[in-house]
Amino acid sequence: MIILSVESSCDETAVALTRDGREVLADEIFSQIDIHTIYGGVVPELASRAHVEVIARLAESALRKAGLRREEIDAVAVTCAPGLIGAVLVGVNFAKAAALALGVPLIPVHHIRGHIAANYIAHPELEPPFTALVVSGGNTLIAQVRDYTDLTILGSTRDDAAGECFDKSARVLGLGYPGGAKIDALAQTGDPEKYPLPISHLADNPYDLSFSGLKTAVINLVHNAEQKGEALDRASLAASLCRAVSDSLVPRAVAAAKATGSKRLAAAGGVAANSFIRRALEKAAAENGLSLYLAPLSLCGDNGAMIGCQGYYEYLAGRRAGTDLNAWATMPADRLLFA
Ligand code: KG4
Repeated sequence: MIILSVESSCDETAVALTRDGREVLADEIFSQIDIHTIYGGVVPELASRAHVEVIARLAESALRKAGLRREEIDAVAVTCAPGLIGAVLVGVNFAKAAALALGVPLIPVHHIRGHIAANYIAHPELEPPFTALVVSGGNTLIAQVRDYTDLTILGSTRDDAAGECFDKSARVLGLGYPGGAKIDALAQTGDPEKYPLPISHLADNPYDLSFSGLKTAVINLVHNAEQKGEALDRASLAASLCRAVSDSLVPRAVAAAKATGSKRLAAAGGVAANSFIRRALEKAAAENGLSLYLAPLSLCGDNGAMIGCQGYYEYLAGRRAGTDLNAWATMPADRLLFA
């Protein structure tokens, strides 16, 4: 089954063609980083407008690269939640028109479920059940994936996503947007023990997370140093931040896997590209007898293939959208509000 999939929830426009979920035939991505960099973050209206400009071209290019004709597309899948609402609407409307024109079913996909599905593409042997750690620019959560279309969120961030914490810390360090990968690169030569940074512990749910205190601590540290004219070891601050985020995420994800009896732990989302987090996950998984599944860097960030993959499993489960499909800025991954 060939699926044309569309992703436009933030600052990447992506269109992919996949066969039977896990085989990627084409995966076209247009990154808007150059558009948003001068503003130090994503400007929602500019994001929507950029999606409008490139989305049809990406679909044509995906078809060309896959060597497919339009008539060979069996269904269209699209991210309809969560995300920047204007941005998501562009993808939803494009996908709706494509499905109508091609006369094929339209499959609504939750963005977080798509991130998890990136691991199915990367690891052909991976099947539910497993525990998933999803860490991105807008979301941070730990979920129990019982089946391809059935999951329970065990814990999530109460405030900022880990990616937001990286991006705002990078901004105050003058590294630019998006900052996660830049912090990671700077951190390679730093001492992760140099700056003690806070790791939150939330009493009522051991799997919930919080990153706003950590973000504020980094911002205050940088401002204090500036005001006192003290030199800052930027590489060590970046390394200390990576360690703090990792120390917050990894023990919770492992504890969740153990508590649910999972033998498998998967990590996904843009922040799962972080080298400190990947190393810590590898170590913790080995120490706790867990099989670890990491999405490759190319599939950690937003992409269309992951939406096509999850769309395939949603299709098999009978999920379809009508011509009235809408978009949602927020929606829990385990309580879908669409068809
Ligand atoms: O998954 P993604 O592309 O978009 C969302 O769905 O949000 O994630 C983007 C986030 C940004 O916050 C970016 O700074 C972060 O992922 N990121 C990283 C790294 N690479 C990307 N954060 C930490 N370390 C990295 N190597």
